[in-house]
Amino acid sequence: MSADIEAQFKPTHDEHARQRFVSMLRKHAILDMTQKLKARYDESIEPQLQAEGRSPKSWRDISKAMQDDPVYRFYSSTRYNAQEMCFMSVQPTIERNFSDLKKTASQAAAEATAGGSLTLDPGLELPSYVTRLDIHLAPGYTHREYTEDDIASGAVVAFGGKVFTGQHPYRRSYGAVGESVSYFVDKQFPDLKPKHILDMGTCSGKNLVPFHDRFPDAELHGIDVGAPALRFGLAYAEHLGVPVHFSQQNAEQTRFEDESFDLITSSFFLHEVPVVATRRILAECYRLLAPGGVMVHMELPNENAVSDYENFFWNWDTRNNNEPFYTQFRSQDPAALCSEAGFSKDSIFARLIPDYASSGVEVADACIAGDRPTPPHGKGGWFVFGARKER
Ligand SMILES: C[S@@+](CC[C@H](N)C(=O)[O-])C[C@H]1O[C@@H](n2cnc3c(N)ncnc32)[C@H](O)[C@@H]1O
Repeated sequence: MSADIEAQFKPTHDEHARQRFVSMLRKHAILDMTQKLKARYDESIEPQLQAEGRSPKSWRDISKAMQDDPVYRFYSSTRYNAQEMCFMSVQPTIERNFSDLKKTASQAAAEATAGGSLTLDPGLELPSYVTRLDIHLAPGYTHREYTEDDIASGAVVAFGGKVFTGQHPYRRSYGAVGESVSYFVDKQFPDLKPKHILDMGTCSGKNLVPFHDRFPDAELHGIDVGAPALRFGLAYAEHLGVPVHFSQQNAEQTRFEDESFDLITSSFFLHEVPVVATRRILAECYRLLAPGGVMVHMELPNENAVSDYENFFWNWDTRNNNEPFYTQFRSQDPAALCSEAGFSKDSIFARLIPDYASSGVEVADACIAGDRPTPPHGKGGWFVFGARKER
């Protein structure tokens, strides 16, 4: 079995304390301060706008009214700084343990005892929407390389991501979204027994690995443009004993043959690319799916699916978190995007699915069947959209 790459992250006492502090600070911003912000809007800002005859007509009006409010500004700067610190807090640990991390990744790629593989394409032109800025404030994001066989950016995103989600740095990663989406697919499409699964924008494959548990006979492929993230991903999957074929490819135009997959998935991916690229990616999904194959993308709920206030809340990332396509993506109708890509209208879905781990099987089944409401996105539920290719 390959060595455990996550165990090579060895924070000192002080680093660990800092990482825990950042997790809690972010949690405080996203939970407590978010509630206070909503109360501030309901009890003070909105009544004032109404009294002045300027009732908000869209999320943009709410956003405008909030910009100078001290409660909003405090919330916003706390959230911004907590986000930045998620990645900064893991950098010293990674720098100190860099040679062990790199060695573990190289060994995993050379030995591939679980049967996975890594195919990099040094000539691949990285899309400018990935390279021009540090997406969601992660330095170098998933792609920046400073040394041969570099793994640092992949490690910063993986371990910084754990600080972000409030996971203890020593806790094993397991993709809650991949676990939930694979369960949903199994329930919703019982006749689909996927043999070839593709995860686009897989990063380190955290949300792809759970598909192996649900569909152990399927061959898993994960593509991403970021080589350091893929190197990290192979080591992570190999240690778990899950064979994943990672390759460096642009999801807009891959090297796979037509109809290569019967299940294509992605998570937290499409809102990071311009809508023109999303259109190409969905058309690529259509090309790559075998007849009867299914595509499911976990994403942010679209603008029409939530209230004006929630749109103001979600779209915060566009201006404050280096995610320039967030608002543009959310303003699209996912069903229309699928239809433009070639999927027949009656096969398209856009809905909430339950978070599998926190809801448990009975509740999950009832939510999927529509017998009880699914919690909102990010609060026990996940928004997904997709379609099934005609047979
Ligand atoms: C937010 S991450 C998603 C991570 C992963 N799916 C997860 O759930 O943990 C988005 C990923 O998309 C990748 N990406 C961006 N544009 C891409 C493209 N055109 N083709 C393939 N991957 C891309 C980025 O490198 C990044 O790893």
